[in-house]
Amino acid sequence: MDLQVVGDYREMSELGAKIVSETIQEKKNAVLGLATGSTPEGMYARLVEKYRRGDLDFKSVVTFNLDEYVGLAPDHPQSYHYYMKRNLFDHVNLDPVNISIPTSSSDETLEEACRQFDKKIEHAGGIDLQLLGIGVNGHIGFNEPAPYLKTATHLVELAQETIEANSRFFQSKEEVPRKAVTMGLGSIMAADKILLLANGKNKAPAVRDSFSGLVSTETPASLLQLHRKVTIVIDREAASLL
Ligand code: F6R
Repeated sequence: MDLQVVGDYREMSELGAKIVSETIQEKKNAVLGLATGSTPEGMYARLVEKYRRGDLDFKSVVTFNLDEYVGLAPDHPQSYHYYMKRNLFDHVNLDPVNISIPTSSSDETLEEACRQFDKKIEHAGGIDLQLLGIGVNGHIGFNEPAPYLKTATHLVELAQETIEANSRFFQSKEEVPRKAVTMGLGSIMAADKILLLANGKNKAPAVRDSFSGLVSTETPASLLQLHRKVTIVIDREAASLL
């Protein structure tokens, strides 16, 4: 595990963007696993800057997002479809056929859609670089703390802590969807490289519990300690309890 503690959010975003850029520069048709949330916004902004300067080409890059709420239309401002358009897809030359986000369609067809999503990752040759944030409860993607974790992409009930944490993006807590679709631990752990970003004091307990040398499904990010090529880029506040 390569742990990089940086000064602040700006430095975390810059180093994160550098690592993603290197992956794309080394392999034009790199397969990226993408995360949403507040954490990677600054990193995406820097990737867009690099693209505008002509330093990055997304033409052959393939992307798979980690997760999506169930029940929000793709054009809902808080959907992850919309987030990705706003932060990255609308600003770079990614080919829309190379973009996949787990579906948010009705529960009935969801199981099949999840299976197809996993097949698509497999057909793409797996993920070269998986980006991750971390929840205040140690979740990765929407794999919430539980006695067992699922390997495949699946429907999940969001944990109370996640609903509370994400309510900052909605008018009220009641508006936060209760369900989501998430990539499972299988595709995440099968990624060639993993890059986890975290910033802020509120992430310090989750960071401590995840990278303390113990592994537990009750802290899903702790499983990353078993991966061979994980880079953790965190700011001083997130690292304060290590
Ligand atoms: C988002 C995702 C989540 C977030 C996590 C942290 O696609 O998979 O695991 O990375 O909830 O969210 P922020 O960055 O908003 O603190």
